[in-house]
Amino acid sequence: MIAPEDDLDRIISVMERAFPPEYGEAWNRRQVADALLLGRCRYGLIGADGGSAVEPGDETAGFFLGRSILDEEELLLFAIAPEYRRQGLGHRLLSRFIDEARANGIKRVFLEMRHGNPAMHLYTAHGFTPVGIRRAYYRTPGGERLDAISQELVLD
Ligand SMILES: CC(C)(COP(=O)(O)OP(=O)(O)OC[C@H]1O[C@@H](n2cnc3c(N)ncnc32)[C@H](O)[C@@H]1OP(=O)(O)O)[C@@H](O)C(=O)NCCC(=O)NCCS
Repeated sequence: MIAPEDDLDRIISVMERAFPPEYGEAWNRRQVADALLLGRCRYGLIGADGGSAVEPGDETAGFFLGRSILDEEELLLFAIAPEYRRQGLGHRLLSRFIDEARANGIKRVFLEMRHGNPAMHLYTAHGFTPVGIRRAYYRTPGGERLDAISQELVLD
């Protein structure tokens, strides 16, 4: 799946605002473009109105990026821009990601998240369960090591 340049702009614009810089979770434009070009990756956008078709001039509120291998998919990136949070857009976008995964024949979704990220509540609400801990997976520029929680969602 190749993203048009406009959609890459939208993804990067949200990415630059959404991820706290100290944890190094954000990807740059090249990484996103390469993933979409090389891997079995797909992305989705959500507009400020909750719709998925973001038209020229519309505000992009968030995006996801997933990569599948056979019947498993990893949710690589998921973000809502700070000014659009706590309005249910994260719920909406995650529901869409899961519905599309199911429609694509995916049986298991997994992701890694930083320990302590409030996103945990969102994932739990959609049925994800913790299946492992990667000790000291993230490293801040200050040298702090943070664990990653691996989460899994089994689809029927
Ligand atoms: C996580 C994130 C996507 C949530 O987006 P959102 O649009 O605010 O999500 P919603 O409004 O749909 O809320 C979803 C649920 O998440 C939980 N939640 C979200 N932010 C929270 C916070 N700051 N504190 C506690 N719970 C929070 C709540 O349970 C909420 O459900 P509720 O409002 O029904 O109680 C957003 O905060 C974000 O982009 N964070 C930075 C990027 C990131 O960490 N992504 C996940 C990487 S694994």
